[in-house]
Amino acid sequence: GTAQIGVTGLAVMGRNLARNLARHGYTVAVHNRTGARTAELVEEFGREGDFVPARTPREFVTALERPRRVIVMVRAGEATDAVIEEFAPLLEPGDIVVDGGNAHFADTRRREEALRGRGVHFVGAGVSGGEEGALHGPSIMPGGSDEAYAALGPLLEDIAAKAPDGTPCTAHIGPDGAGHFVKMVHNGIEYADMQLIAEAYDLLRTVAGYGPARIAEVFRAWNTGPLDSYLVGITAEVLAHTDAATGRPFVDVVADAAEQKGTGRWTVQTALDLGVPVSGIAEAVFARSLSGHTGLRRAAAGLPGPHRPPLGERDAEHFADRVEQALYASKITSYAQGWNMMRAASAEYGWGVDLGAVAAVWRGGCIIRAAFLDRVRAAYAADPELPTLLADPEFAEETGRAQEAWREVVATAVRHGVPAPGLSAALASYDALRAERLPAALVQAQRDYFGAHTYRRTDRPGSYHTLWGLDRSEVRTGG
Ligand code: 6PG
Repeated sequence: GTAQIGVTGLAVMGRNLARNLARHGYTVAVHNRTGARTAELVEEFGREGDFVPARTPREFVTALERPRRVIVMVRAGEATDAVIEEFAPLLEPGDIVVDGGNAHFADTRRREEALRGRGVHFVGAGVSGGEEGALHGPSIMPGGSDEAYAALGPLLEDIAAKAPDGTPCTAHIGPDGAGHFVKMVHNGIEYADMQLIAEAYDLLRTVAGYGPARIAEVFRAWNTGPLDSYLVGITAEVLAHTDAATGRPFVDVVADAAEQKGTGRWTVQTALDLGVPVSGIAEAVFARSLSGHTGLRRAAAGLPGPHRPPLGERDAEHFADRVEQALYASKITSYAQGWNMMRAASAEYGWGVDLGAVAAVWRGGCIIRAAFLDRVRAAYAADPELPTLLADPEFAEETGRAQEAWREVVATAVRHGVPAPGLSAALASYDALRAERLPAALVQAQRDYFGAHTYRRTDRPGSYHTLWGLDRSEVRTGG
């Protein structure tokens, strides 16, 4: 075989990744279950580089130099298992299979183990950046063995996005499912960012009384400050867009039921299993699902709410500045939650994930790319054992400085009846974490009262139970 790498699964992500590889000078074997797609790719983009079209899995595998490097780009789930089943018998020890789909990390762990038994390396790689990213440079989060990364890394570094400092936006994340885990958390953070931005928009619209075009201007201004990010940038573009058919602001003609393909939900499910609070991501997932519950919404549509007119011009401007600060502080909080989760999983699965390197990989190419991520990288570079981003001296100073504005914005949202679950949850999480005492003490006491679940004391070791139904004396129940 003469092809240095192969791509099977030529829907838009696979096709663009194959083109990206070819444009970087690699000879790329290409294969798709239905051959028409393969022919189409070669016909349309054959001039961009060297493609070797393959009609069958055997032809595809034969076209590859050894050890073979096969990128699988099919819809995550059963299709991935089907492709692996089809190709595995044709592969040899030392070959590398890369799954570039949005797989669940538990599936990746299972597949990696199964292929390892045959001596084949399985690399679950998160790929972010959509169609454009795949073609011009995605952010790539590969898991798998060191050996596999040694054979694959240089090539991934070539085709990945480059951070503003020129560093490729890819790094070996860790063994087995580590890459897909990190990609999942990326998507959870993506959901949280999008929800926070949407709440900021809603507040500017309802409380400040701004129209979409003006809000676009506000977002453009924010995009030159600490909130500078891809998502804030595209939000400004969307808000400035006018619907051709009706002449109305585009955002007003889009149905307000947000969909999801599942990675945000996985993030929350996994966080629950790990026991890590990710309230910002959870609120974002719930907000999407609430928006889609037309029945519930119709049933509740007549419930009373406050009647407050929008703010006057001067107050509105002041409020908009406050929203910027609240959004930024909430962003720090939800990123802190995402990082807490990666830290916990890395410990649980023994992945040894470099938390600063993850931030570095997200500086370019991916959906959450932002100037902010270089600061997250720097925070972990300064202290690799940082227990939470909120404890980083700079972020701590910034959230501290923003907290008055944050409170004002959340309180105003409540007064005006504008739902702001993301901003509120972030603030609640901030306040809970910094609290010296939490009412969790009372919860423990309640549990002991009705179920003899025992509690610990602040003044001496051991676990205790109070004989609530008897004389309310206390007994020591254990170490
Ligand atoms: C990316 C994105 C991508 C995801 C979309 C849609 O990193 O390029 O995260 O992987 O598929 O964002 O996700 P939802 O349909 O769940 O919103």
